[in-house]
Amino acid sequence: MIDRSTIDKIYERADIVDVIGDFIALKKRGVNYLGLCPFHNERTPSFTVSPSKGIFKCFGCGKSGNTVGFVMEHEGLSYPEALKYLAKKYNIEIEETEPSEEQKIEESKREKLLALSNLAAKWFHHQLYQTDEGKNIGLSYLRERGFTEGMIESFGLGYSPENRSAFCDYALKQGYTPDLLTESGLGIDSNGKLFDRFHHRVIFPIHSLSGQVIGFGGRTFFSDKKIAKYLNSPETVLYQKSKILYGMFHARKAITQNDFCLLVEGYTDVLSLAQCGIENVVASSGTSLTIEQIRLIKRFTNNLTVLYDGDFAGIKASLRGIDLILAEDMNVKVCLLPEGEDPDSYARKHSAEEVKKFIDSNQTDFISFKARLMLSEAGTDPIKKATLLNNIVQSIAHIPSEISRSIYIQQCSRMFEISEDIFYSAVAKELREKIGEHKKGITTQTKITPKESIIKKTTVDFADNSVEASERDLIRFMLEYGDRAVFISRDEEDPEQISIVTVAEFIVEELESDELIPIDSVWAKIFNIFSNDLKKNIQLNQLYFVNHPDIEVSSRVADLMAKKYPLSRFWEEYGISYNSEEQLLARNVQNLVNEYKWRRILELQKVLTSRLANSELSDDEIRAIMTQLHKINILRNDLMKKMGSRPSL
Ligand code: CTP
Ligand code: MN
Repeated sequence: MIDRSTIDKIYERADIVDVIGDFIALKKRGVNYLGLCPFHNERTPSFTVSPSKGIFKCFGCGKSGNTVGFVMEHEGLSYPEALKYLAKKYNIEIEETEPSEEQKIEESKREKLLALSNLAAKWFHHQLYQTDEGKNIGLSYLRERGFTEGMIESFGLGYSPENRSAFCDYALKQGYTPDLLTESGLGIDSNGKLFDRFHHRVIFPIHSLSGQVIGFGGRTFFSDKKIAKYLNSPETVLYQKSKILYGMFHARKAITQNDFCLLVEGYTDVLSLAQCGIENVVASSGTSLTIEQIRLIKRFTNNLTVLYDGDFAGIKASLRGIDLILAEDMNVKVCLLPEGEDPDSYARKHSAEEVKKFIDSNQTDFISFKARLMLSEAGTDPIKKATLLNNIVQSIAHIPSEISRSIYIQQCSRMFEISEDIFYSAVAKELREKIGEHKKGITTQTKITPKESIIKKTTVDFADNSVEASERDLIRFMLEYGDRAVFISRDEEDPEQISIVTVAEFIVEELESDELIPIDSVWAKIFNIFSNDLKKNIQLNQLYFVNHPDIEVSSRVADLMAKKYPLSRFWEEYGISYNSEEQLLARNVQNLVNEYKWRRILELQKVLTSRLANSELSDDEIRAIMTQLHKINILRNDLMKKMGSRPSL
């Protein structure tokens, strides 16, 4: 049991941005931080961290909690495990009271497996440095391969002795059960006797994102083809191959800093690159990439380059993995090393600068890489060429961005000597089929149709169409959701450019850019407070306004909060991704702003038209009003276009 005062110390010390920042890239947005949610798959960040409140919340999937909760959820740890993790991070000594028998039994299997794995890692490492056998066989092998002490230390490499049960014997003596040893995969039961899976091998511990050892790879010293070069831990509750990438714990900071990740195949590739100074590198450990692994990378960066050995073997098998990367909207490139080289050998012969330079000038986008590779194979055979064309079309159809798609289509039409039109229509057909599949999935999976769920969430009041009602809605939204992020494509020239702003920032920017401030004087006051104080990093929550010294402001806000006005109008959409209230919020904010502008425009039009009816006007005055009306008409048309084509969120 961790005692109360230690728990308090941990809570005091742990900084939520610092803790979460170890796992995902966070960007400052106003008073909060934003990132891609690690708990569900998303393309645009909706995961918010509030340092002042000490909480996180994802408004894509709705997960929220405090620092300890995040560590528990993210790492799959129990409460005491999460506390221990934080204590370690902040160098807080844990005062533990002796656990009772009951608590000992209650200790989760996970925790036991974790303890065993970490014990094993320590033991293997100890063997490497502190035993003659380890030094003579293990350490000398690693040194021969050129690995420095620093690397061996930092990746925690180890040695498992020739004795076929040395580790199991040790672990049993430490009180670990045979069942746990076999479950972890460290021991193998043979007719009731336990043997070490990894005996007589170099040990590569595999770390979780938080640096816990969760599995192992063991390399043989023999070059005999009959002996498996590597043995790996089997799947356990701790170690799920499809979800981890070797080296991620060591690479994650560098990946974020460089906004770039290198993907290689093997353990030694990661080590050698890291040793040469390129730390943003992870390995798929020889298997083809999974969607979970790609999403793991995507938490840190969108830019991925896959480094392949100079020989073509294995490349084709991994091509399908890359289609998955494209579908995740990642910027993926491929780099072939010179013949006969793998990343490990290349990194040992070159400096970091040279390696980077080589990658920079030799990486190509994936589609052209694939096309070139396959074209060279197909030669002039027209049937092979047609199959290949189909294959490329499918890859292109995986790319979510329309602009990227058309760039690839241009490139490939040149390579294949086929007109762009044919390419376009083939991709379009593929896309239509994909969308068809997607829709089918939706109707069978979602029980509540979007329409029903919206109606449950929002009371509708279609009657109130006044400008005032619209202003009230806007202000209420700012007060209630002001610091939440809302994602809207703002750049009309380049619709790919999505900028991220909070609800309050969005409304302020939108209105100010059209020189609109609320007509109602009190709403205008509140709006101006937002506009001025947003820049000062003040927490502009309801309390701030309820306690505001301006009595008009405070009483209006209190009134607004008490009455719980529903939106004066709401918007229905039958889009695909309607799975949370917050997504609805994001749409509503944009719609609110558009609606407000719309009402202001109509109002102005009315005023101006009625003024025109005045027969006393001079020609100049008429002309002035006509010009204004003309401008308003343009605004109105723009707005109509905008409202017709809502950005996808
Ligand atoms: N691998 C495996 N089992 C094998 C062979 C390979 O699990 N029998 C995985 C390992 O993760 C290995 C990766 O595939 O790191 C790449 O294999 P390979 O290129 O053969 O090994 P290297 O990492 O290059 O190892 P070394 O440099 O020691 O030969
Ligand atoms: Mn190698």
